[in-house]
Amino acid sequence: MQLLRRKPIGSGIDTGLKKVLGPLDLTLLGIGAIIGAGIFVLTGIAAAKHAGPGIVYSYIISGFACLFTALAYAELAASIGGCGSAYGYAYAGLGEIIAWIIGWDLILEYGIAVPAVAIGWSGYVNNALTAMGMGLPAYLINPPAAGGIANLPAMLIILFLSVVLCIGVNVSARFNAVMVLVKLIAITVFIIVAAGNINPANWSPFLPFGIEGVARGAALIFFAYIGFDAVSTAAEETKNPQKDLPIGIIASLLFCTMIYVVVSGLLTVIVPYHTLNVPSPVADALLKLGYRWASAIISAGAIAGLTTVMLVLYYALTRIFLAISRDGLLPPIFSGVNPKTQTPVRVIIISGIFMSLIAGFTPIAHVAELVNIGTLAAFVLVCAGVVALRYTMPGMKRPFKTPFSPLFPILGIAFCFYLMINLPLITWIRFAIWLVIGLIIYFLYSKNNSLLAQKEFYAKYTKM
Ligand code: ALA
Repeated sequence: MQLLRRKPIGSGIDTGLKKVLGPLDLTLLGIGAIIGAGIFVLTGIAAAKHAGPGIVYSYIISGFACLFTALAYAELAASIGGCGSAYGYAYAGLGEIIAWIIGWDLILEYGIAVPAVAIGWSGYVNNALTAMGMGLPAYLINPPAAGGIANLPAMLIILFLSVVLCIGVNVSARFNAVMVLVKLIAITVFIIVAAGNINPANWSPFLPFGIEGVARGAALIFFAYIGFDAVSTAAEETKNPQKDLPIGIIASLLFCTMIYVVVSGLLTVIVPYHTLNVPSPVADALLKLGYRWASAIISAGAIAGLTTVMLVLYYALTRIFLAISRDGLLPPIFSGVNPKTQTPVRVIIISGIFMSLIAGFTPIAHVAELVNIGTLAAFVLVCAGVVALRYTMPGMKRPFKTPFSPLFPILGIAFCFYLMINLPLITWIRFAIWLVIGLIIYFLYSKNNSLLAQKEFYAKYTKM
């Protein structure tokens, strides 16, 4: 087993990335990645089809799964660090193949979430353009499978974000902060308007689909929480990672959980839950109540929100690639950092082109659940990693400790697994196919080219 190859973060190693981020930047990055399609789109579907007003409970259940996992992330991010996030923690404590599987899960999480959110973004933008009389023709907003040529806006937004990410982490963080502000203003407007239009009759029945529906809703809207983990990929660009990463991860998650419970509760109490199965349920609900101006603000907030989700998840994807490639499990083309911008320009461009092709030409908008299962699997392993490392490396310096360990990490595993078993069979099948592809790549390429394999090779031949 390979133990703690990495030097501890903040030890002054020069990784080539620029250390500029503080606790507020990290919290804003977290909020940037978290609040997006989940609350602005999926809440409506989950309430209408699965949970009814009980969606509030769904958010609380998923919130607990994430809170226990966030504490585990905070411990490992502060004590092990590295931009590879969960992949790096597993490499340090659980061995190469488990690390590869987590890394492969994270590539699924971020690499599919970004184009899926880009397609949602394109829908919102086209709605706004249509409202201004400038809507795009159907063939420019649909992939070939849906009778179009390509989803052009979805492709363009990813290429635009790749430019932002190449320029530098400072500019990306500032761009993110402005967009986060816009979405928070929109959510505040929603809360104020909705609070004045409460109709308690809409909460009756509160659990039209029973507890089962609440659980199914929780497994779907888990998507809304994805992103707090992305904060940990900023470890090598953070000024004081041991202290700031736990703050960024936990603060952003708690803040968003609160917002989700309030917004989903209000949404289902201002309009009947069964009217919410539409692409833009939050804006639509206000429109139904006659607040055109507020609905327009929500649409602007949703567009900003989806933009920051894509930005931060895309950022996280590139850092994961960088970390995996540095260990030799992926080709070296992924690991260069441009000395001028201090960003991994090559991997940003390559992954950006791939994701924009996926967004433009494939109908993958409805794969939130696939993203969920990949993320939940990684979360289970992160929680298990905390427990394992407490036994295998009791003396490791832990600037932040998960409280009540091993109880909390075990609860994290239980909650995440519960959400996983509430996902449909087709999602499990797709996930299994993804894992098989990952294992094929591992055994055909990564295993033979990893730094670990090379060290073993040299060790063997220098002994001879
Ligand atoms: N949590 C992110 C969203 O809801 C992925 O869009």
